[in-house]
Amino acid sequence: MRRIDQLLANLGYCSRRESRAWVADGRVTVAGVPAEDFGQKADPADVRVAGEPLDHPGGLLLLLHKPVGLVCSHDGREGPDVYSLIPERWRRRNPVVTSIGRLDKETSGLLLLTDQSPLVHRLTSPKHKVPKVYHATVDRDLAPELVAQFASGTLLLEGEDTPCAPAELKLLSPREAEVTLTEGRYHQVRRMFAATGATVLALHRSRFGPLELGDLPAGTWRELPLDTFGA
Ligand code: URA
Repeated sequence: MRRIDQLLANLGYCSRRESRAWVADGRVTVAGVPAEDFGQKADPADVRVAGEPLDHPGGLLLLLHKPVGLVCSHDGREGPDVYSLIPERWRRRNPVVTSIGRLDKETSGLLLLTDQSPLVHRLTSPKHKVPKVYHATVDRDLAPELVAQFASGTLLLEGEDTPCAPAELKLLSPREAEVTLTEGRYHQVRRMFAATGATVLALHRSRFGPLELGDLPAGTWRELPLDTFGA
């Protein structure tokens, strides 16, 4: 049971103050009866706004195809962000909808968004070793020895003293490779290639754990069940 004003504000409908007017003008019903008071407690499943059930009262989990050029940060000073791609009401939710890990501004591909903070912690924790698959295009021919170097668990990134965990590198063409990582360090794929003398020109994530991006168009998203990664 949740207070109606809190429920509407947290789901991004309106401010708590505005919810008073929404209740007063009869827009909000509980089990088919106009709500009496903005402080009234109700089961979210019983609440309707203008006759419509509440918008995802249990939470959101989205699989987004992030295009190049958008950041995952919520700090507007860093430029246009991936949240501009989702409905405005979802952008006003509390807890906020945030990305599960990040992709750089210049990286495209599979990005999960959610308002479920335990899920963010679980899926970004190095303990869980969620495999993430990237397609990288680099500026020079890749030597076959790189496969063993990435797999060795000894590759050091500039400025760090803990080597990267073993990563799988598959060479697809002289300047293209698929990389599978189980960690998520800052700019990790770009820095791993940099440690071997190559510069990544394009980077795209095609998989996150069991999820594939498939042919979802860039800039669009689809909803996933909240229990996609277990309860
Ligand atoms: N590695 C990177 O370098 N960038 C990303 O966005 C993700 C992994």
